[in-house]
Amino acid sequence: MLAPLVSMLMTAAKPAPPPSAELGRSPFVRLRELLGDEPPGKPAISMAVGEPQHGVPGFVGPVLAAHIAEFGRYPMNKGMDEMCESAARWLTRRFSLSRPVDPAREVLVLSGSREGLFLAAIAAARQNGRRRGTPAMLIPNPFYAAYAAGAVTAGCEPVYLPATAANGFLPDLDALPEDLLARTVAFFIASPANPQGSVADLSYLKRIVALARHHGFLVFSDECYSEIYTRAPPHGMLEAGAPDFENVVAFQSLSKRSNLPGLRIGFVAGDRNFLARFLELRNVAAPQVPMPAQRVAIAAYGDETHVIENRRLYSHKFDLADQIIGDRYGYRRPGGGFFLWLDVSAHGGDEAVTLRLWREAGLRVVPGQYLAREQADGSNPGRGYIRVAMVSDQETTAEALHRLVATLR
Ligand SMILES: Cc1ncc(COP(=O)(O)O)c(C=O)c1O
Repeated sequence: MLAPLVSMLMTAAKPAPPPSAELGRSPFVRLRELLGDEPPGKPAISMAVGEPQHGVPGFVGPVLAAHIAEFGRYPMNKGMDEMCESAARWLTRRFSLSRPVDPAREVLVLSGSREGLFLAAIAAARQNGRRRGTPAMLIPNPFYAAYAAGAVTAGCEPVYLPATAANGFLPDLDALPEDLLARTVAFFIASPANPQGSVADLSYLKRIVALARHHGFLVFSDECYSEIYTRAPPHGMLEAGAPDFENVVAFQSLSKRSNLPGLRIGFVAGDRNFLARFLELRNVAAPQVPMPAQRVAIAAYGDETHVIENRRLYSHKFDLADQIIGDRYGYRRPGGGFFLWLDVSAHGGDEAVTLRLWREAGLRVVPGQYLAREQADGSNPGRGYIRVAMVSDQETTAEALHRLVATLR
């Protein structure tokens, strides 16, 4: 009689689960809290969210209109055959692959890469969670918030790898201890990186793949900025993992490439064994992509003209940054992406400068520490930096950069 009661009381007395702080709070919510009700000092310019403001490509409207009836049907989770074929053809054209990607088994459509990155962590932990020790996921620091949210939700320990100026803003692979690699389930990496825009060379990507194969973990390569570069096209992880793509999973998106962040479409390609498991999870849990949106993506992956124009616009904005920012705040033109990652530690630090830029200049930027986590030694690799998204038009961007320099002078 007593035993069930005791057990009930003991259950009730259990400590609360770890605080959701582990998941990480949205940097944009924290930014709203920091700025509070403060009015902007000048007409506001948002450079906080990485939301491309260049025009939506002209073909989007007509394609949606032509396929409007398909909103009346549930899409298959894997994605339409034509969409997977279009993505596979694009990968084969864009990257140096020794064989074509198989659209049937090596591509899945995503509702934007964010949900894919998050759910992939859960699928990976289900497939590969029995490791030697506490299962871990490796995450560059700073990083895109969905990686840590995925790792924590999947019951893995997120292990943050500092990506600082000292290591070229890419995690130091030589610093990874064997016992950590032995318990790693997945390694998230972004090249070009958000926020620093660092681009990994092919040998770096190959070293990650070799580690993954040796230690039996997956590489989750976030390549949503791969088409935004001003010099050489960045390499992709599939190149490092060809010809069989074992342990390699690459995430792509039309949000940045084609200025379609609101369409919510991307895809994942690579290791067919993982993708088969991932599809099982996706079939019961993931959002499907409406077929008219997939029709747009088919057109978008078949066209490079709008992408070239997009790159030209970003390239001009980096020319502006070169001229206006010059060598202030440790600025150097990054290999990819559309962010400035500016060291403002000599100007009062990232939160203070963010507040000041808003109050005095109407500029909304993100404190770097909100995009990163504290390392065990208490350092935060984002602290002291601000992230400035150059997503507006040329004129607005030039005005914003002049205001920034004038305010911090
Ligand atoms: C590094 C990185 N990865 C992934 C995403 C997610 O993009 P989407 O879900 O629009 O494809 C973003 C969006 O800002 C990003 O910056």
